[in-house]
Amino acid sequence: MENAISANGISKHFGQLKAVDNVSFNVHEGEIFGLLGPNGAGKTTTIKMLTTLIPMTSGSAVVAGYGVKKSQNDVRKRIGIIFQDPSLDDELTGWENLEFHAILYKIGKQKRTDKINEVLKLVELEDKKDILIKDYSGGMKRRLEIARGLIHEPKVLFLDEPTVGLDPQTRRKIWDYIKKLNETHGTTVILTTHYIEEADYLCNRVAFVDHGKLVALDTPENLKDKLGGDVVSVQVNGKTEDFKKLFKKHAWVKTISGHDGSVDLTVKEGEKKIPEIVDIARKAGIGIGGISLHKPSLEDVFIYYTGKAIREEEAQGWRGIIRAARAKHR
Ligand SMILES: Nc1ncnc2c1ncn2[C@@H]1O[C@H](COP(=O)(O)OP(=O)(O)OP(=O)(O)O)[C@@H](O)[C@H]1O
Ligand SMILES: [Mg+2]
Repeated sequence: MENAISANGISKHFGQLKAVDNVSFNVHEGEIFGLLGPNGAGKTTTIKMLTTLIPMTSGSAVVAGYGVKKSQNDVRKRIGIIFQDPSLDDELTGWENLEFHAILYKIGKQKRTDKINEVLKLVELEDKKDILIKDYSGGMKRRLEIARGLIHEPKVLFLDEPTVGLDPQTRRKIWDYIKKLNETHGTTVILTTHYIEEADYLCNRVAFVDHGKLVALDTPENLKDKLGGDVVSVQVNGKTEDFKKLFKKHAWVKTISGHDGSVDLTVKEGEKKIPEIVDIARKAGIGIGGISLHKPSLEDVFIYYTGKAIREEEAQGWRGIIRAARAKHR
């Protein structure tokens, strides 16, 4: 498998601060790859180095076949970037913003028109193309930025927090565009996010970053599997110890813990094991009062590696704080 991105021990220091600290990873061609981590983890700084926008303090990287330090122009021609902060021209229409970008990339008139129409269709903004950006909603702006990043048919697309601050519905749409683009054009995508569900839903592989360091890297499935599997909680009506003894014999049960008449079993593919668990208990004469399944999330895995949650509310500003406060008082 070819690598679309290969980062070899890249670092960025701002004075004493190691914003990115000796990070290495490869992104395979055709992959959707996620950098997941809390505010200030070093995600944007990593993206900026890989896209030639800031120099590295040390290390090296190859993007779309070219060295980031030596062949900046070759790299730039082959990548698309969607920045974390909005970067559209408010006084131009959607179409004009796209056309300006296409001209920068020296795309001829006819191809330009075709391409702009194509990307507008992808993000469903055809009917808004002649409206000024200042009259776009936040979600529309983000979609147009994604469209703009695609005009010159990049081999590798960098998305820095593609859905931050957007409502769940718009977020889901953007996920669909990213998936569609990846599937139909084979575009390699690297995105940063602090949304667990976003990384889980979109990414073939995810790298956890924290304090400038890469702390784990794997598929979402494998990362979750490292926690031992799903947690099946069983209500066992007073026979806790018997139940625990019974399941200790089975190798597919990774861990057993019990409290207050309820026993938690960690097993792989929990939903498939539930019938078997019920059956074994019944044959041993242990009645089951209830059973529930908890799938470990990437958040659980992040906590496992870093000892802390990603803390979405911080990044979302007031919206998140208000939501957290509401949840607390419910
Ligand atoms: N130009 C700069 N000068 C000094 N410090 C910087 C500079 N750019 C970034 N930093 C610092 O580097 C660290 C990493 O910042 P970065 O923007 O890469 O984080 P991030 O993971 O993208 O966070 P967020 O989720 O908030 O976007 C932070 O502590 C930040 O303050
Ligand atoms: Mg950032």
